[in-house]
Amino acid sequence: MRDELFSGKIDLVDFTFDKQVVKVFDDMVRRSVPGYQTLIEMMGLVVKTYGQDNTNFYDLGASTGAISLALGLNNPHQNNRIIAADNSVNMVKKCQSNLKDKIVNFKVVCMDINDICFENASIVVLNLTLQFVNPEQRQDLINKIYQGLTPGGVLVVSEKIHFDDPKQQQQITDLHLDFKRANGYSELEIAAKRQSIENVLITDNMQTHFDRFEVAGFSQSLCHFQCLNFASFLAVK
Ligand SMILES: C[S@@+](CC[C@H](N)C(=O)[O-])C[C@H]1O[C@@H](n2cnc3c(N)ncnc32)[C@H](O)[C@@H]1O
Repeated sequence: MRDELFSGKIDLVDFTFDKQVVKVFDDMVRRSVPGYQTLIEMMGLVVKTYGQDNTNFYDLGASTGAISLALGLNNPHQNNRIIAADNSVNMVKKCQSNLKDKIVNFKVVCMDINDICFENASIVVLNLTLQFVNPEQRQDLINKIYQGLTPGGVLVVSEKIHFDDPKQQQQITDLHLDFKRANGYSELEIAAKRQSIENVLITDNMQTHFDRFEVAGFSQSLCHFQCLNFASFLAVK
């Protein structure tokens, strides 16, 4: 369903992943996030390279289930459990109905990802989710993920990022706005969505991500993909 959520909005409230957003989410994310399709496709490589048999794969902030689906369809092993988590009841229902006949050994749970006890994980994915977690809780979450990973296991974090240099920030923001215009969003829709989401989606710069991985204990981390102001990081235990 086409995302027209902000086409006529005047009374703006903070953005939430409610029933209306769930209906248009797949269209919204593709038209708003440059490189989204590549981020999903990368899961094929990730699961073949880092997935270990008899371990768990976690998809945190799973939304409609695109990451879990890509992990499940490309998994070369037999004995993995894919655990998708989201704290939006409507997202969880949609994820369940999207994936129930498509992949095996899969469960979706409705819970706050900060409350998960990670166990025996060879893959943990935070695709566009950490940016919605309270910044004060982010380090603890990454620490817990590190503790729950097996040696050689990977954490994938994909996020909108900001740049400290004001000129760079302006340049990349302008390009992102052009990306949205090119995908059919009007000036009104762009401005309204921005106003609705600005208190909810809190970005970090790249260095903050690398520092957080290091503090958690990751021996190596790298940015494997960037498209405009969206970047994806791999941190291997
Ligand atoms: C932008 S979407 C993620 C997109 C999805 N990972 C994908 O690749 O299509 C962010 C999701 O994170 C969920 N979320 C945000 N904070 C959360 C939290 N603390 N616990 C669980 N889910 C959370 C939201 O409900 C939403 O579905």
